[in-house]
Amino acid sequence: PLSVSEYLRQHIRTVPDWPAPGVQFRDITPLLQDPQVFRVLIDAFVHRYMGRGMRPDVVAGLDARGFILGSVVAYELGVGFVPIRKKGKLPFTTVQETYELEYGSATVELHTDAVRPGDRVLLIDDLIATGGTMMAGKKLLEKLGAQVTEGASIVDLPELGGSQRLKDSGLALFTLVDFA
Ligand code: PRP
Ligand code: HPA
Repeated sequence: PLSVSEYLRQHIRTVPDWPAPGVQFRDITPLLQDPQVFRVLIDAFVHRYMGRGMRPDVVAGLDARGFILGSVVAYELGVGFVPIRKKGKLPFTTVQETYELEYGSATVELHTDAVRPGDRVLLIDDLIATGGTMMAGKKLLEKLGAQVTEGASIVDLPELGGSQRLKDSGLALFTLVDFA
């Protein structure tokens, strides 16, 4: 019998040299395209966060693939969903966080009324590479006084050190598939 992790791994497509030479891009779109795989994927998160003491008050999703997962997981948990967006997309007042990329920097934003002080938030994305995106999301939620109870993603690329850095910052992580 295949574990959920192995089953999902078999449905992730690796695209060599995209978006740049030498990068092995882990493409999660096949997981979403097949209804049976999509259900196994979502149920893996829902099962964990429906569990005793694990249900968050809010799910926050990271732009853009974190929206696809996060909104469905929130719906199934019966809690609200809030988007953390790339700069310049959110219309109301926001908090902002800028972080370093390999070349240059990126800024993400969150509406100031997206969460309330004390809210327990589950933060979701599709993949953790350097961890910069998830770390920025955590900081935004904490600026508003919320507590990020866990970060969740489908894929972790542990060799890039991001998941370790996130754990060192005190963030608990739940990931389904590692690629060395
Ligand atoms: C990718 C991925 C994560 C992030 C991971 O998104 O979906 O959000 O990068 O990298 P990190 O751990 O080094 O921060 P991308 O920036 O490609 O944006 P997109 O989802 O809008 O395509
Ligand atoms: N796949 C998807 N998103 C990513 C990757 C990847 O391999 N690396 C950095 N962001």
